[in-house]
Amino acid sequence: MLEAMPETKLLDLQPATATFYEDVISGLATQPRTLPCKYFYDERGSRLFDQICELDEYYLTRTELDIMRTFAPEMCEQIGTGVMLVEYGSGSSIKSRLLLDHLPDPAAYVPVDISREHLHRSADELSRAYPHIEVLPVCADFTMAFQLPVSKRRATHHAVYFPGSTIGNFQPAAARRMLANIATLCGAGGGLLIGVDLQKDISTLESAYNDADGVTAEFNLNLLGRINRELNGDIDTDQFEHHAAYNSELGRVELSVVSQCDQKVKVGEQSFELAAGESIRTEYSHKYTVDGFAELAAEAGLTLRRHWTDNARRFAVLHLVIAD
Ligand code: AVI
Repeated sequence: MLEAMPETKLLDLQPATATFYEDVISGLATQPRTLPCKYFYDERGSRLFDQICELDEYYLTRTELDIMRTFAPEMCEQIGTGVMLVEYGSGSSIKSRLLLDHLPDPAAYVPVDISREHLHRSADELSRAYPHIEVLPVCADFTMAFQLPVSKRRATHHAVYFPGSTIGNFQPAAARRMLANIATLCGAGGGLLIGVDLQKDISTLESAYNDADGVTAEFNLNLLGRINRELNGDIDTDQFEHHAAYNSELGRVELSVVSQCDQKVKVGEQSFELAAGESIRTEYSHKYTVDGFAELAAEAGLTLRRHWTDNARRFAVLHLVIAD
């Protein structure tokens, strides 16, 4: 039987060398100990994250989707005709479809993701669903600078779509750098449509990261499991507990895994001694006000043009343009 030809050709800009090992070793050797949250998303972690998005307590995904469903036509009008739309972390294509349904005559759609298979699959699906739009997938780590592909039709301008409040997982200085990279990538006339989780009462925030079914705990602890599986670690994950709490001073939920006893863990040839109660920081999830985010973006050369929120003001989608 003939195999279906892929609809799209993938541009692979991934660095050849894996840095997971180096990042884990240096993170565990520093005080306070840290592990980068970008490593949550192996196959199991991605599946657990999909489950998180369905949880009653995790309001972010459904609230953002509601905002997109209601306001996508207005957003697309703001973005304008002839755009090359670049999506960062093109996970589920539900939100991008809402934009592609309403964008006036886009030049191309460029999904950017680090997960090659997932990217290829969703790019092919989108290309079949939108045969009039050129789909140009790029496999890259969007936290680093990368080059845009050249579309058959020349775009009048570029816009980045960065949904999911993933920007909240970067500390402010890194978020500012990332926004500045976006401004450079888009250039004059370009813009950014970004999903941002908003500050709210502590109990709503803490419940979102401490769900009753323990899915977030599993997601967090899976990072240790991934180290065991991929880096020849011997970490007893039962000897760690998930912890998530809101730091109101810094406006962020802080996730850690906490050692339940004095223990020695090995990763490859390296070993680390952990005391009972010692934590390893695994993630920050910053929560902003619209004005606070606009200030951060202004420092990166982006000006807030419009924003849309839900009635309870839990989440916002902001449209920012490159300052002249
Ligand atoms: C991907 N990111 C926006 C999620 C968040 O809410 O910060 C990751 C997450 N961590 C625990 N639950 C969800």
